[in-house]
Amino acid sequence: MSAPVLGEFEDNPKPPPMVSGRLPVLGHALEFMRDPCSLVRRGYEEHGPIFLVDMGSKKAVFLIGPKYHKFFFKETDRIFSMRDGYETMMKMFDKRLLFFSNLSDYQEQRKVILPLFQDTDRFTDCIVPEVELFMKNVLGDEGEIDLATVFGPVVMHVAARAFFGEAFRNKLGDEYFHVFRAFSLGADVVLPSWLPLPKFRGSRKAKARIESMIVDLIRERREKPLEPKDLFQELIESTYYGGKPLPDKLLVNILLFIPWAGHETTVGQTSWTLIELLRNEDYLERVKKELEEVLGDRKEFIQEDFKHLKTLDWAVKESERMHPVAHVIPRGVRDDFDIDGYEVKKGTMAFVSPDTAHRIPEVFKDPDKYDPLRFAPDRAEDRVPFSLIGFGGGVHRCAGVNFAKLEMKIIMAMLLQNYDITLLDKNPIAKKGVETKWPESPCRIRYSRC
Ligand code: HEM
Repeated sequence: MSAPVLGEFEDNPKPPPMVSGRLPVLGHALEFMRDPCSLVRRGYEEHGPIFLVDMGSKKAVFLIGPKYHKFFFKETDRIFSMRDGYETMMKMFDKRLLFFSNLSDYQEQRKVILPLFQDTDRFTDCIVPEVELFMKNVLGDEGEIDLATVFGPVVMHVAARAFFGEAFRNKLGDEYFHVFRAFSLGADVVLPSWLPLPKFRGSRKAKARIESMIVDLIRERREKPLEPKDLFQELIESTYYGGKPLPDKLLVNILLFIPWAGHETTVGQTSWTLIELLRNEDYLERVKKELEEVLGDRKEFIQEDFKHLKTLDWAVKESERMHPVAHVIPRGVRDDFDIDGYEVKKGTMAFVSPDTAHRIPEVFKDPDKYDPLRFAPDRAEDRVPFSLIGFGGGVHRCAGVNFAKLEMKIIMAMLLQNYDITLLDKNPIAKKGVETKWPESPCRIRYSRC
């Protein structure tokens, strides 16, 4: 019998209840691939916080709500394995990279990457000029544009500038964006990457191209180090395991993984933040007023400003709550365990679902209502640990969370400061399927310089 891990000991623990609508052989696999959010919400309505979904080849247990999220994140790297949860993605990178690797390699690599994310002044200096270029070259003075496509290049250029340096960003320009996009399409949490699908073939070809770009850059920088150092220079000179240089293959993978982890997520979350602001005029006015108060006549941002832009901060959080682009977070179960009278077997998948959990009315009041003030200090509805999990939780919580939030706030602030914007498609929906939850096209805005 497996040991009880969470909740009271039960003599005869039973499997968690199964969600309705299971087909013979395929189980819920097709429904999960088509519309995972509706399936998981149905599971929660039918059975509460713990239930099973049948993925066809495997069962998956869903754990919903702060108490279970805490268990899920604290037991990651013990009962729960990230490597087994992200098997297909591991094949896009390298099995010795970060959480695909063993725990000690992961911890050593994490010590290398975390300092890269700490200098927010440096990030502001990378983000602001990219948003300026975007306004000048892409938006111009007025026009109409589809949000689902517009933020992709700007977020990629920010990442290229921040992590690879200005010279790389300028040299590669749009080619890097298109190749990287093809590479990203190979990410799939359900389908195995050996299937002969164009997206998997295209992803492998794109990876080879990016690798050759990065290897060239590493060679150039080793021969002629940049002073003062940028992030790229710091990374290639960094060491682990008490002074060993990072092997080039690992470096290339880190440099592929970091922008990849932050690309689609940031693009999607930025779009939702803007969409909701444009749909909620009263709150938009508050944000604009606060911008005027903090900036006065100044057009340039300094890092200090973002400490005072509280209403914008809450708008970003509310978009994370209502539209978590990472709508489910997967793990593989490495050991049998008991949880509140249910037994979960080794080999099962385990998921938390930010999409479902962020709409629990006992945690977030009137969860379907857009209400960023729920995050103001007098209400602080996210004060329960592990209630808001759009960036994950525990040791593996998103390494780029501060970078991403800063980027979203700068994009919002600069757009709202420079343009009058109207949302033309008033009720955009999220993309169907298991991929990152961007808004579906058409999702157009009209804008003109103010
Ligand atoms: C709105 C934007 C973003 C969202 C919603 C997001 C979401 C997440 C989530 C949910 C996880 C945890 C995955 C898990 O536990 O299985 C994660 C991990 C991670 N994210 Fe982000 N992310 C965003 C932006 C970024 C950016 C901009 C970067 C870097 C430039 C980044 C780098 C990472 C890394 C390196 C990890 C792995 C952390 C670890 O395992 O130690 N993310 N992200």
